[in-house]
Amino acid sequence: MSSKKTAYSCQNCGAIHFKWSGKCSDCGAWNSLIEEFAEGGSSHFTRIENDKISNSVGSKQSHKISLVSLDGETQEFPRVKTAINELDRVLGGGLVQGSVVLIGGDPGIGKSTLLLQTAHSLAKNNNSLIYISGEESVDQVRLRAKRLGCEEKSIKLASTTNVSEIINAVKDEKNAKIVIIDSIQTMFLEGLSSAPGSVSQVRASAGELTIFAKKNNITLLIVSHVTKDGQIAGPKVLEHMVDTVLYFEGEKDLHFRILRAIKNRFGPANEIGVFEMNEIGLSEVSNPSELFLASYDHKTSGTTVFAGIEGSRPILAEVQALVAPSFIPTPRRAVVGWDLNRLAMIIAVLNTRFGLNLFDKEVYLNIVGGLKIVETSADLAVACALISSSRDIPLPSSTIAIGEIGLSGEIRMVSNLETRLKEAHKLGFKNCIIPKANEKNKNFNNIIKLLSDINIHSVSHIRDIGKFLPKISK
Ligand SMILES: Nc1ncnc2c1ncn2[C@@H]1O[C@H](COP(=O)(O)OP(=O)(O)OP(=O)(O)O)[C@@H](O)[C@H]1O
Ligand SMILES: [Mg+2]
Ligand SMILES: [Zn+2]
Repeated sequence: MSSKKTAYSCQNCGAIHFKWSGKCSDCGAWNSLIEEFAEGGSSHFTRIENDKISNSVGSKQSHKISLVSLDGETQEFPRVKTAINELDRVLGGGLVQGSVVLIGGDPGIGKSTLLLQTAHSLAKNNNSLIYISGEESVDQVRLRAKRLGCEEKSIKLASTTNVSEIINAVKDEKNAKIVIIDSIQTMFLEGLSSAPGSVSQVRASAGELTIFAKKNNITLLIVSHVTKDGQIAGPKVLEHMVDTVLYFEGEKDLHFRILRAIKNRFGPANEIGVFEMNEIGLSEVSNPSELFLASYDHKTSGTTVFAGIEGSRPILAEVQALVAPSFIPTPRRAVVGWDLNRLAMIIAVLNTRFGLNLFDKEVYLNIVGGLKIVETSADLAVACALISSSRDIPLPSSTIAIGEIGLSGEIRMVSNLETRLKEAHKLGFKNCIIPKANEKNKNFNNIIKLLSDINIHSVSHIRDIGKFLPKISK
């Protein structure tokens, strides 16, 4: 017997409601509820309802669980190296067996390319794996593999979008320990009437695959598209469901790509891997600073170099500012690769604490190479770039600036100074403007000794930078 149930799922947050309303009570989005039917039996909604029942306190069927001591014998998680170093680092040292990894990214950024190359590398090292494409036909995947030089007989390939069929196929293929699904938005579970790509299909398909993978100790790599606002399409719950979430980002017309760990249950988050995209696919970039500074010209005004930290590795990035007269009442401010609000703050601090008035000027800020910086320690580099551009005087050559700026104009301490300075040193920079507050660190003197051929300029307030850049300050 099959009973039909109606539910409404919010296409914005994924919440399930059993009554329709114009506004989702969970996330507040308007007109985001879409009606979905589910057949009875083992359907997704029935399961949700069952969960509710079994979760209820004092339920008669509840069994006792056994509690263990936190301090007990455990083993390290077994990992499989993909042999793509940039990917292995982002994963925290390789793929953890039985873990579920979500790889998100804009359309066309190179997700399928990355996964096909990963599959190839894994298969070459005698890992048996299955590659399921819901987006491309078998022929298309084969052609791509040929183009990338990734043909590998042992990779088992199929083109399908039906989750149950995939699970059955994987069950039959007893040796396969790694399964790649490209992409989750094309997958569907029978029994849910909504279209593939809808929130409930995405969630139910990912849920079903995850449960299967965990039960059978299969490593699952799932591709997911990203929505306009940068979220992995489908509900946030998708990110909670899996062990690791990686974002593949970059500008389409630029050739390098950054793979970033957003969440990792088995390693550090925020770790990045850098790749270069060309006709023969993705190649690893082991020294990204060199790449990001490739066209750096210290003779131009408005550019500074910032020594940032991405995950555990230092990356030097070029910060470019352009200050231009404005002919409109509210001058334009635009930012690429940094935070617009942060820029507004720096402009205000420069006005009040440094005497640089940019209120009637248009201000553009760009982090070169499509890199996105979130660190506040880039403040000082941004401020230097703004000052340099507005005065049209380049900074002294070979200068790096690191420091967070507070509202009163004070320069605050930064973390990992040693790593940052070493990277600057490696790339031949001679002058570093750093926060004076960092001098208090225990090992500061050791760092200075080690990097004796770098001139360190410590500043405690934004107005101090005038001491080292006399030409620039009035
Ligand atoms: N025949 C080709 N020759 C050279 N480069 C190609 C070719 N086909 C694709 N590319 C490159 O690969 C990129 C697409 O990579 P890929 O298909 O892996 O992206 P994706 O993230 O999987 O995209 P989608 O969202 O469509 O699945 C293109 O932007 C292009 O730069
Ligand atoms: Mg693809
Ligand atoms: Zn909602």
